[in-house]
Amino acid sequence: MNEFWSDHVQGVMTLYLSRKLRFDDQFFEQYRRLFLLDENADLQVLEIGCGPGALAESLRRWFPNAEITAIDRDSRFISFAKANIPGVDFREGDATDLPFEDQSFDVTISNTVQEHIEPTVFWREQLRVLKPGGICLCLSARKGLGCIAPCLETTTEEINFWERISSSDDTFEKYGVGKYRLSEAELPASMEKNGFFDVTTGYVITDLTPDDPKYSAQMAETMIEAMRQNDLEAIQSAHSADAEKAIAAVNAKYDERISLYRRGIKQWDTTVSVTMIVRGRKR
Ligand SMILES: C[S@@+](CC[C@H](N)C(=O)[O-])C[C@H]1O[C@@H](n2cnc3c(N)ncnc32)[C@H](O)[C@@H]1O
Repeated sequence: MNEFWSDHVQGVMTLYLSRKLRFDDQFFEQYRRLFLLDENADLQVLEIGCGPGALAESLRRWFPNAEITAIDRDSRFISFAKANIPGVDFREGDATDLPFEDQSFDVTISNTVQEHIEPTVFWREQLRVLKPGGICLCLSARKGLGCIAPCLETTTEEINFWERISSSDDTFEKYGVGKYRLSEAELPASMEKNGFFDVTTGYVITDLTPDDPKYSAQMAETMIEAMRQNDLEAIQSAHSADAEKAIAAVNAKYDERISLYRRGIKQWDTTVSVTMIVRGRKR
């Protein structure tokens, strides 16, 4: 039983909602031109470090004939995914020792996972389980941009809460979170150096702007809820008995943001995410 990530780094709803938006169908065209996969083929696809499963859920829609397996070592994520996302074989497992036979997948894919795993092992395991000619897709979050609504500025209660939390917390360092981050140039070079060929790169831009009428009310409110969950789960992950005021302040400011949205009082706050996609092939 491993719940390190969901307990200390990012909670279930933080990851699920943010990725549900990032992998929404309206962005599929951008992914399609970089994935370059046959949408009708009966591909065997393995997602590595799937978290609570939002990417796997989209892959199931985008590639209806594919058989999708997804693994993560965090048992809370896998329980959530199994309970909420049908049609995907979710399993608990370690990316550094994949519990699969050699040459069993046509495609391996991961999103924001490479930077946490020693690169030679990360690539080696994927090369091992891919069939000859198989495709590896590595998705990696890059610097985006954003602008928050005035009502969502950090509250005094949150500032006080974070000031009380010890700054000497070395949990991330201890578990190697982000330890192997690679630049936009180093990432494809690392893939090539570790045995992949035909390596290509590209970028997907997702802009999440609740007030933009191109988004449905449901999607707009999911954007606001995703931000709320991000802030709430960050406070909860500090495991402090003294979180009540900060949690109430967070809920109050997001309730206000939802209320402004529903009354048509536009804030034009936006979050623009940039996802780098590196694609390589096994010989
Ligand atoms: C930043 S999260 C991304 C999760 C998911 N890909 C998403 O985008 O929502 C990184 C994930 O990698 C998983 N992870 C890290 N090291 C792992 C390993 N050695 N084996 C399996 N999963 C791992 C964590 O448990 C976490 O779910």
